[in-house]
Amino acid sequence: MKIKIADLEFEPLINEDLIIERTKAIGQQLNADYLQSIPVFVGVLNGSFLFIADLIKQINIPCEIAFTKLASYYGGTTSKLKIRDDIDLMVDIKGRDVLIIEDIVDTGNTLHYLIDKLKQREPASIKVCSLLLKPEALQSPIEELKYVGFEIKNEFVVGYGLDYQEMGRNLRDIYKKVE
Ligand code: IMP
Ligand code: MG
Repeated sequence: MKIKIADLEFEPLINEDLIIERTKAIGQQLNADYLQSIPVFVGVLNGSFLFIADLIKQINIPCEIAFTKLASYYGGTTSKLKIRDDIDLMVDIKGRDVLIIEDIVDTGNTLHYLIDKLKQREPASIKVCSLLLKPEALQSPIEELKYVGFEIKNEFVVGYGLDYQEMGRNLRDIYKKVE
């Protein structure tokens, strides 16, 4: 069913059941990969708040959770290079295994920026888990991107935490913009 958010129309792309199923699989992988350490999961707000919550519920090894806030879109549907950050994690990540949890990787600029900033704090490792990836939009490879929920086309999506003009975050499924 099509829905309208502000001036745009959207149609279903990935439903809630599929998201949960994929999130469970990634969670199991993380439980195995981080068995030997106590990782710090760094959730990137706002877009990933539902994904962080659902993913973290699948984790059964000791871990810490911190948050950072980045924004690169300012209400439009194309990524801007300018990034606003509010990074104070409140957790010392020096010597720790860090896993960044993102909603979506588009151009990759936001992640490159965040990874560079976190590296200055000398963690033992940094990896990234993103629910969505738009491979065609990625401007340069991100070697830390180890876990991806779904690869999607270069199209604008909303729902399950992702917004268009701050709306649509509450939708349970992910929708794509009708062209
Ligand atoms: P990047 O810096 O271009 O990779 O953009 C990353 C950020 O832009 C993501 O963390 C999202 O917050 C936002 N973003 C990218 N693509 C979309 C989209 O299709 N819908 C909603 N937000 C998006
Ligand atoms: Mg984001």
